[in-house]
Formats: sequence, C-alpha cells, structure tokens
Amino acid sequence: MDIKEAIRERHSVRQYKDVPIKPEDRERLETLIKECNEESGLHIQLVCDDPECFDTFLAHYGKFRNAKNYLALIGRKNIDDLDELAGYFGQKIVLEAQMMGLNTCWVAGTYGKGKCKASLAENEKIVCVIAIGYGENSGHSHRSKPTEKLCDVPESQRPDWFKEGLEAAILAPTAINQQKFLVSLDGDTPVITAKRGPMARIDLGIVKYNFEAASAHRCR
Ligand SMILES: Cc1cc2nc3c(=O)[nH]c(=O)nc-3n(C[C@H](O)[C@H](O)[C@H](O)COP(=O)(O)O)c2cc1C
Repeated sequence: MDIKEAIRERHSVRQYKDVPIKPEDRERLETLIKECNEESGLHIQLVCDDPECFDTFLAHYGKFRNAKNYLALIGRKNIDDLDELAGYFGQKIVLEAQMMGLNTCWVAGTYGKGKCKASLAENEKIVCVIAIGYGENSGHSHRSKPTEKLCDVPESQRPDWFKEGLEAAILAPTAINQQKFLVSLDGDTPVITAKRGPMARIDLGIVKYNFEAASAHRCR
C-alpha cells in the first residue's frame, strides 16, 4: 500500500480486536515516533495495553471497544502552534500505521484525560490522543462538504498535483467531521488556512500533512 492508498483507505476505527500490537509493528512505530519527535520537538508517546484511558462513559457512548493502545500527542506548552504541529506529525504516524495494517482514531474528547498514562513534564501538555490497533472493521468514508466550500481555486485552474493534494485534504479526518479549512493557491504555493472551530488548528496540521503527502508540494 502506498501513501495515497493509505489516505483513501484510512477511516476512523473505534472497535479493535482484543490482541496486542505485534512486537515488530511496535518497534516500527517507536522508531517513527522517535524520528517525528526529533524533527518536531514534540514528545509523542505510544502507550500499549492500557484499557483505562478509554474506559469512560463518553468512550463507551462513542462506541469504542477494545481500545487499549494509543499515541499521546504531547508537547511543550510554549511551542508556537502546538496544535497544528501535533496534527501534522500525528497524521504522519497515522498514515504509516495504516500502511502497516493498523487502524486508528483521533480522539480529543471521548477519552479519560486524567487517565492517560503517558509521562508529562510540568511544562508540557497533551494535545489529544490517537487510538491505535488492529480494527474489527476498517471504518467507513465520511461525508464531505462540497468541494467549492473547501477550495477557492476554480476547477480549470487546478494543476494535477493540486487536484491530488485537494482530494487528500478532503479525505483527512477532522474533529466532528467539521472540515473547517480552505485550500487556496498563491502562485505555485498551496496555502491551507483554518476557519474557526473547536480543534480546527489540530485539523489544519492533519489536512496539510495529507495534502503534502499526496501532492509532494509543501503547503503554507
Ligand atoms: C482533532 C480530532 C479530534 C477527534 N476527536 C474525536 C473524539 O473525541 N471521539 C471520537 O469518537 N472521534 C473523534 N474524532 C474522529 C472524527 O469524528 C472523524 O475523524 C471524522 O468524523 C471523520 O471521519 P473519518 O476519520 O472516518 O474520516 C476526532 C478527529 C479529529 C481530527
């Protein structure tokens, strides 16, 4: 599976098989997390075999089952645009995980914030977590807003690479599927901006990563 297939096949998965992450998959995830942390300055951690974090009323209400592993997206409180950075690198790990046969779900609300077992320094905070494991199912496609609401570049003026990026942006997960972003073009540079909305800055990082991975063009 290549990254574009991973983008198309990724959907939020909330029910997992009751099996631990295989040691070789765990090792690959840990290596990737280390690389992401070195590049970003974040302190992302993988926590395995901890059912408590999703043992909350909201998690059950949200139909989470056997969610026992998660990525905790953590960074220093004083990092400029911590939410966007966490979104960007979190999505990088999500897509690599998809290619390894693992499923995921971004979770900012329906987990036990006080129950997260990741280690947190005094000057750090948790942005959100991502449930990860082998899914009971592979989820389903989300409904999308009409493309004109998400992109202000007329169809006839979209280069091929831009079309690929836009498709990937539209497939990106966003909090409550809000899709509060706008994809534009400034000369040859794709520009993605966040509109107002809860967690819209985390979404922005996620959407930018998807766009860049599919189009091989760096976004601003
Ligand atoms: C930042 C963020 C926070 C999210 N928080 C939750 C959550 O608390 N609970 C939940 O069940 N899903 C959560 N989701 C998953 C979204 O509902 C889901 O991504 C969206 O509906 C699109 O569906 P898809 O991921 O299958 O494409 C979150 C997604 C994002 C990006």
